[in-house]
Amino acid sequence: MNRPSLCIHPLYLSVPTVVELVRRRGVARCIDAIARNIEADFLRWVDFDKSARVANHSRDGVIELMPVSDDTAYSFKYVNGHPKNTALGLSTVMAFGVLADVATGTPLLLSELTLTTALRTAATSALAARALARGESRVMALIGNGAQSEFQALAFQHLVGIDTVRLFDMDSAATAKLMANLAGSGLKVQACASTREAVRGADIVTTVTADKTYATIITPDMLEPGMHINAVGGDCPGKTELAAAVLEAAKVFVEFAPQSRVEGDIQQMPADFAVTELWEVLSGLRTGRDSNEQVTVFDSVGFALEDYSALRFMYEAAQQDGVGERLALIPALADPKNLFGVLSREGCSVAAPAPTLALPQVDERSDRLQSAS
Ligand SMILES: NC(=O)c1ccc[n+]([C@@H]2O[C@H](COP(=O)([O-])OP(=O)(O)OC[C@H]3O[C@@H](n4cnc5c(N)ncnc54)[C@H](O)[C@@H]3O)[C@@H](O)[C@H]2O)c1
Repeated sequence: MNRPSLCIHPLYLSVPTVVELVRRRGVARCIDAIARNIEADFLRWVDFDKSARVANHSRDGVIELMPVSDDTAYSFKYVNGHPKNTALGLSTVMAFGVLADVATGTPLLLSELTLTTALRTAATSALAARALARGESRVMALIGNGAQSEFQALAFQHLVGIDTVRLFDMDSAATAKLMANLAGSGLKVQACASTREAVRGADIVTTVTADKTYATIITPDMLEPGMHINAVGGDCPGKTELAAAVLEAAKVFVEFAPQSRVEGDIQQMPADFAVTELWEVLSGLRTGRDSNEQVTVFDSVGFALEDYSALRFMYEAAQQDGVGERLALIPALADPKNLFGVLSREGCSVAAPAPTLALPQVDERSDRLQSAS
């Protein structure tokens, strides 16, 4: 990322602002742009100071902090994972994050990241599938039809060339919601009675379920030659989606191995179980699939660099559109050594943030067309 011009008041992107920004461009275009950023950043893998995320576990979920930086920008995401939340009327995954200037530590951006996480997860999945799945893949099974699922379907349609999705969720209302949201997308959509039925004949299988247990959504008897499995929901210790025998039968790819060995489906495997990191394939250092018959697994858990890539997309897009608010998050001091001075009467008047920028009006008709694409 180019060194940004500094303002002591970071840009704040609320949910309504990000929704508007995404609606103006369309979901598919945003996923495509984020995927390009992720690819570009993965190709600079060695430039980043990387670590596994810090996770605080509790009985029903986890809260995680995900930091990463290069020599210009730093980012972190706060994200939770509470599969039982939907029964309480809350999302399973909720997130926000920060982008900051490395040279001075000044926060540049504070943004919602719940919607953005769905976009970046779908972008990463599609990027991996483009590198790993068979080129002629057209049919995808989509198991787990909750909050992430529309984004996965649209990413695979527009970035990978999928034309048919076969759906299963143990909650039939979630499948009905997904079918309604995909109406008009151009995808052929089929509801199935079981995972086994959805997976039969699929080129790609995406699992994006939420359950804090060692689940075995995909078992080895469901595998077909050449299948690519995009396993998104097994992303926490004690939370998996694939039977161990599926991993044994496949060539397995991960984001950042030190994190994936703890959190991914490969937590079930020995510490020396062979995996390839996605960046190695993207940069041509190692091969993806070795044959048309080989089964490939992308054991996704979500890595901080994907959020860095998504945050810089949001930051640049917001600046292009002139949207967002300046937030008085950090004291703006006439004398930086006089922090105490902000408590004085005069301190109150020090550099208030610029007023909220108005969101430009969007043409409703073209907006609806873009959202469907
Ligand atoms: N890898 C990543 O980068 C990444 C990013 C975001 C979310 N996730 C994970 O993806 C998963 C889905 O997230 P979400 O926001 O869509 O959650 P969600 O709660 O909105 O949806 C999950 C769906 O899975 C279904 N489900 C649970 N167990 C099932 C089973 N055995 N068979 C079929 N369906 C089942 C539920 O009924 C629900 O509809 C979560 O586990 C989340 O932690 C991973």
